[in-house]
Amino acid sequence: MTDVIELLEHDHREVEQMFTEYEQATDPQERRTIADKIIIELVRHSEAEEQAVYPMIRNQIENGDTIVEHEIDEHSQAERLMKELDGMDPNLPEFGVLMQQLMTAIREHVEEEENVVFPQFRQTVSPEELDKLGKTVEALKKIVPTHPHPKAPDHPPFNALLAPGTALVDRVRDMLSGRGQQ
Ligand SMILES: [Fe+2]
Repeated sequence: MTDVIELLEHDHREVEQMFTEYEQATDPQERRTIADKIIIELVRHSEAEEQAVYPMIRNQIENGDTIVEHEIDEHSQAERLMKELDGMDPNLPEFGVLMQQLMTAIREHVEEEENVVFPQFRQTVSPEELDKLGKTVEALKKIVPTHPHPKAPDHPPFNALLAPGTALVDRVRDMLSGRGQQ
C-alpha cells in the first residue's frame, strides 16, 4: 500500500493512538516518554506532508497556495509547542498544559486535512501519482523510526534522537534532510 493519502491517514490514526496512550498514562516519566514519541512522529509526518503533498496541492488545486500556507502555519504553531516541550520536566503543570494544546491543535489539523484537503487532493491527482508520492513518504518513515527496534532498543537512530541536551525537533528534521546522520 503506497497510496499517499492512505499512508498519511494511517499516520493520523497512529498519532491519535499515541495521544490516547498519553492521556491514559499517569506516571510523569511515562508521559514524558510518550510525548517524545509523539514529537518524533509529528515532525516526521509534517515533513512528509510538506515534501510529498503540499507542493502538488500548490500546483494543482484551485486556492492551493492559500490551503498550503494555512497548513504550514499550523505545522509551525505545533512546532513552537514541541520546542517549548523539549526537555521540559513532566512534573511541571505547564508540561500538561502544552501537551493539551498540542493535542488539540493536531486533532483539528487532522480533521481539516481529512475532511477538506485530502478529498480535493484525491480528486485532482491520479492514482499513479498518489502511489509515487506514497513512496516518498515511506522512504522518510524508514529514516526516522518512531519506535525503538524491539530487539535493539538501545541502537541508533532512536536512542540518538532522545539523547539528552538536544533539541528533538531539530534533530528529527536534520535526520530527514540528510544532515546529522553520523
Ligand atoms: Fe497530517
